[in-house]
Amino acid sequence: MDHAASTPVHPEVAERMMSVMTHQFGNASSVHGFGREAKRIVNGSRDQLSSWLGCEPDELVFTGGGTESDNLAIFGVMEQIGVQGSHVITSAIEHHAVLHACHELERQGCEVTYIPVDAMGRVSLKAIEDAMQENTALVTVMYGNNEVGTVQPIFEIGELCRSHGVIFHTDAVQALGSVSVSCRDMPVDLWSFSAHKINGPQGVGALVVRRGISLSPRLFGGVQEKKRRAGTENMAGIAGFAKAVELAAAAGQVRVQHYDELRTALLNGLRREIGENSFVINGHLEHYLPHILNISFPDTTTETMLMNLDMEGIAAASGSACTSGSLEISHVLLAMKLSDPVLRSAIRFSFGLGNTTQEMEYTAQKIGTILNRLRK
Ligand SMILES: Cc1ncc(COP(=O)(O)O)c(C=O)c1O
Repeated sequence: MDHAASTPVHPEVAERMMSVMTHQFGNASSVHGFGREAKRIVNGSRDQLSSWLGCEPDELVFTGGGTESDNLAIFGVMEQIGVQGSHVITSAIEHHAVLHACHELERQGCEVTYIPVDAMGRVSLKAIEDAMQENTALVTVMYGNNEVGTVQPIFEIGELCRSHGVIFHTDAVQALGSVSVSCRDMPVDLWSFSAHKINGPQGVGALVVRRGISLSPRLFGGVQEKKRRAGTENMAGIAGFAKAVELAAAAGQVRVQHYDELRTALLNGLRREIGENSFVINGHLEHYLPHILNISFPDTTTETMLMNLDMEGIAAASGSACTSGSLEISHVLLAMKLSDPVLRSAIRFSFGLGNTTQEMEYTAQKIGTILNRLRK
């Protein structure tokens, strides 16, 4: 139940990658037949992916994953505009790939505003509008949060940015496969994606860059990806990514319904086993990613619950980074200004294709047993 961290590679994705790895050994930049075949695979995957994501093939840049896409978007745009003396708006609950990139921008002389969120983890449009300055160059706000699942008003933020002539980037790493993503239909200039969150391989992702947005490269070398990302393409990874998105697109609403069923089964199980008053849902009750459910059990702590769950064979997560053996309180939950017992006992459950409602019931029962044991 930790699919927000990573997901198992789908067997059909593995099969596709195996076929590429065992039959293709060209470099997509070579002019001979082997190279042309490699290029056909990379560009064929690009065509497929761009049609599912709703962008043009030349708007899609393959990267080494979500972190690289976020960094390429932020530094790529800001280096074009000029880091020093510019202003960037982001939210307090971004993934560290965005937050730490913004800290680096600050170190380089850029002003950054971190928009707070409400108790359910949502930014307010008004707060973003109020933060807009003459020198605001970029707004970067994630589509769906990886710790509590809250979905942000991306369309409205995009329209606001358009009306101010400001570039808008969204980290859609957790959103892909769970909520609608159609790059062409939304006023978003740059989108970050990662394959391993949707049953694709680790270490490959994409940045969609709307035509007309200039981007400075982060890597220098060859002319791959139209000079936006140098380096030989991860051909098998890219083919696997395309297959993963194809499968997610084919499953469509069925996949989302499955997550909703799992979510409901877990919540109903908890109500039955420990009672409504023994847990708190962290996140938005209307605007949420269906595969992420963050729950606090204020009678215990995150560490104790995670350890006990692990002993029962249940893998869940805290939203926190584990540094030198101790759990740091999550910056997302802190930004939501939750009470101390809620902050210190939050567990992130995240669902995926292999999970069943029986597993949710098993988990709820085990949580009941664990809490009883701890009380004694
Ligand atoms: C919202 C979000 N952004 C970015 C990333 C980083 O993606 P990757 O692991 O592909 O570098 C993650 C991964 O956890 C994420 O959840």
